[in-house]
Amino acid sequence: MIRTHQPARREAVSRPGKPLQGCVNTPGDKSVSHRALILGALAQGQTRITGLLESDDVLATLDAVSRLGARVERLGGGQYVVQGTGGRFRPAKDALDFGNSGTGVRLMMGAIAGAGGQALLVGDDSLSSRPMGRVTIPLEQMGAHCRSTEARLPVEIQPAPLTGIDYRLPVASAQVKSAILLTALGASGETVVREDRATRDHTETMLRLFGADISVEAGGEGRIIRLNGPQILTGCQIDVPGDPSSAAFAAVAALITPGSDVTLKQVMINPSRTGLYKVLERMGASIAVTPAGEAAGESIANFGLRYSTLNAIDLEPDIAPSLIDEYPVLAVACAFARGRSRLRGLAELRAKESDRLAATHALLAVNGVEAHIEGDDLVIEGGTVRGGGSVRSLGDHRIAMSALVMGLAAREAVTVDDISMIATSYPAFIDDMTALGAMIRVHP
Ligand code: S3P
Repeated sequence: MIRTHQPARREAVSRPGKPLQGCVNTPGDKSVSHRALILGALAQGQTRITGLLESDDVLATLDAVSRLGARVERLGGGQYVVQGTGGRFRPAKDALDFGNSGTGVRLMMGAIAGAGGQALLVGDDSLSSRPMGRVTIPLEQMGAHCRSTEARLPVEIQPAPLTGIDYRLPVASAQVKSAILLTALGASGETVVREDRATRDHTETMLRLFGADISVEAGGEGRIIRLNGPQILTGCQIDVPGDPSSAAFAAVAALITPGSDVTLKQVMINPSRTGLYKVLERMGASIAVTPAGEAAGESIANFGLRYSTLNAIDLEPDIAPSLIDEYPVLAVACAFARGRSRLRGLAELRAKESDRLAATHALLAVNGVEAHIEGDDLVIEGGTVRGGGSVRSLGDHRIAMSALVMGLAAREAVTVDDISMIATSYPAFIDDMTALGAMIRVHP
């Protein structure tokens, strides 16, 4: 196996203390940041980016597009200029290392195939255990040459002539949809992607900003997306909005910590991403949403959150794509809610950075919360949370952050064995939380 760089382990402890107060400048959205770099690299001409999330996952994508011929210049403070390749990537001499990033590697498979590139794609242990067949299968149907063993990384892509396909997504996955659309940019003829349940649509929105001709039609619960290839994108300006998935941690921390009053600024409110906030409101959360304009074709808002008494929820599976990354922190909110919650249809969580369904259950159980997995559902008995547990983050940033949030409102402190991977998505997490008054201590 090709081993990639993994950062040194660091333990952290969060403990109950005072109410959380203040304001967070929400970090740039991870999904939008990856896409800004990738589309900028594919486009003809210059793309200017502000507010790029400078996390390990996004920097891995930046490194990959540079090795494929895009020129990326850092102006400082999240500002970048990308000089695109006009849709033709050069062969990558060395392996492209995507670290922990499923979005980076899956979207780049599509971009590389569509841009006639040649590359070997690798990742860390977690990424190397995640399924890649969901991308390589449709890409191969389009004519792409993808080589892998048992549909896992490393995956090698070789240039090949491509034609459009008509494809119904077997899993509700924006990564798979996006990989197909990026391949379609270099394929001849029409590509149609049919999704039964609408997933995040940042690729479609941003393709339009880069001048692509793409049509999206509502089809039942989902959508039908059509793109005629080949097409060459034109560079543009992308101001990355705040990440609702990162904002989720301070949001839940404020709701469960008595006396808290927190403002989260510039949060993207694309409906395909805000499921958590709608669910929390159904549970009784006090969330004041103040519109704050637009960025990168997406609406943004400031969120005001106050400590709230939460009630349990029985959550339907259809809503899953709009809060797919937020289930661990929602489970923490449910642990503090009155009554028994049931989060239904969580099978996809098993294919995330960890088996996130098992990891979420373990995080609850080790802190004295009565919870069990029934088929693909997670059942949680809410109330007072004992805490005092030592949580294994299992290489999963969202498990680590959720556990630290729990410790802020439990009766006893919560320890997380390793938080180093939080830098994959939210490098400023500890600083932002401690600035709100959270008692989190990191042991180097
Ligand atoms: C993402 C899509 C989701 C999500 C991931 C980011 C994206 O994955 O979990 O964190 O940017 O397209 P799936 O497409 O596998 O559901």
